[in-house]
Amino acid sequence: MQTKNIGLRNIEVADTKISAIDGINGKLIYRGYDILDLVKKSTFEETACLLLNDDLPSKNVLSEFSSRLVEAREIPEGLEKSLQNIPKKANPMDVLQSRVAELGMYDKEQVDDKEINYNRAINLVSKIPIIVACWERIRSGKDLIEPSKKLNHAGNFFYMLTGKEPDTEFTRIFDICLILHAEHSFNASTFAAREVASTRAHMYAAISAAVGALSGELHGGANYQVMKMLLEISKEDKVEKWIKEKISKGQKIMGMGHAVYKTFDPRAEVLRELSKRLSEKTGQPWYKITKKVEDVTAEEMKKVKGSDIFPNVDLYSASTYYMLGIPMDLNTPIFAVSRVAGWTAHIIEEKFAEAAPKPMLYRPKAVYVGKYCGPFGCEYVPIDKREPEIHE
Ligand SMILES: CC(C)(COP(=O)(O)OP(=O)(O)OC[C@H]1O[C@@H](n2cnc3c(N)ncnc32)[C@H](O)[C@@H]1OP(=O)(O)O)[C@@H](O)C(=O)NCCC(=O)NCCS
Repeated sequence: MQTKNIGLRNIEVADTKISAIDGINGKLIYRGYDILDLVKKSTFEETACLLLNDDLPSKNVLSEFSSRLVEAREIPEGLEKSLQNIPKKANPMDVLQSRVAELGMYDKEQVDDKEINYNRAINLVSKIPIIVACWERIRSGKDLIEPSKKLNHAGNFFYMLTGKEPDTEFTRIFDICLILHAEHSFNASTFAAREVASTRAHMYAAISAAVGALSGELHGGANYQVMKMLLEISKEDKVEKWIKEKISKGQKIMGMGHAVYKTFDPRAEVLRELSKRLSEKTGQPWYKITKKVEDVTAEEMKKVKGSDIFPNVDLYSASTYYMLGIPMDLNTPIFAVSRVAGWTAHIIEEKFAEAAPKPMLYRPKAVYVGKYCGPFGCEYVPIDKREPEIHE
């Protein structure tokens, strides 16, 4: 007997060498390397290179990879003009999703081999932050900033966003955020990217779909909702009442819970420290308020549902980005700035896997529960003979 798997939880659909999550013990590895080790010792550039290749790069490979990211720091003039024509109130994720598709129109390559996809991946990793930064400048009526050739990936993004070179501590904190968000196995947006790639659509189509999937509040959009919640709560002593009310109404607390981790999300632990560091540095209250949200939600869920709940990656990334001075509605686009490394690695794996079982076109089965009038279908009644009630 076949069983339905609503939401595809725990269904194995393909092999991957890119990352693994141990949801019971709270571990995340990228190509075999523990994320907690990478945040201490690596950089976003090296992590992206690791994800797009089999192992940590040699000095030469990393140097070439980083130079290529710097060289690709520009967007086509036509794309820059089209950004100017978008309504200034547009949702930045809609802007990003549509501009990624547009970027594909400037790619003249006719073939879809592995090398070309690797080049496209470098291009997308480099250009997605440029699109996000340019859009922020354009919508706020500011002049665009030329990319810097000397700043790293994290620093250049900040510079193009604000026009000011960030200090080394801010740059490193943002670099760590990028490492943490770069990859997370078959989450909704990565699965969307792989699903589109499985049709043999090109990388831009797959990334554009991934950006769309990421925009939802149950996925990447949660970090924006978390910051909205923190601003609404505004004070530590208001947390308890606010959370209790939401939970008693059966509403979800954004930034809490995870489909895979049934313990602490290791990324949340790192982000909690970053949020604390930034609160101490800037004198802002957001770390303490967030910590209280975490504690009260855990206590309430235990009382009301008898279950444990832990913070996910979005709970502390919201306040971290806020204290870095990033506009709230760019939280989710910034997730994409980082996750594009993982998405592109997955698209390449989906398209060019060498070992069996090779991926194939995704085609799940639906269970039809609609109208049924016997094996020959329902009789088609011409429109003027139908009872008016038929559509009510
Ligand atoms: C991420 C998420 C979709 C995972 O969902 P899931 O796999 O269905 O979660 P679980 O099966 O563990 O949920 C078990 C119960 O806890 C509840 N729950 C889960 N997350 C909750 C939250 N953040 N706040 C309140 N209740 C929550 C569910 O509603 C469910 O209750 P029910 O059994 O009465 O229906 C869910 O935790 C969520 O919506 N979190 C908030 C959004 C968010 O932060 N998303 C970013 C994820 S990285």
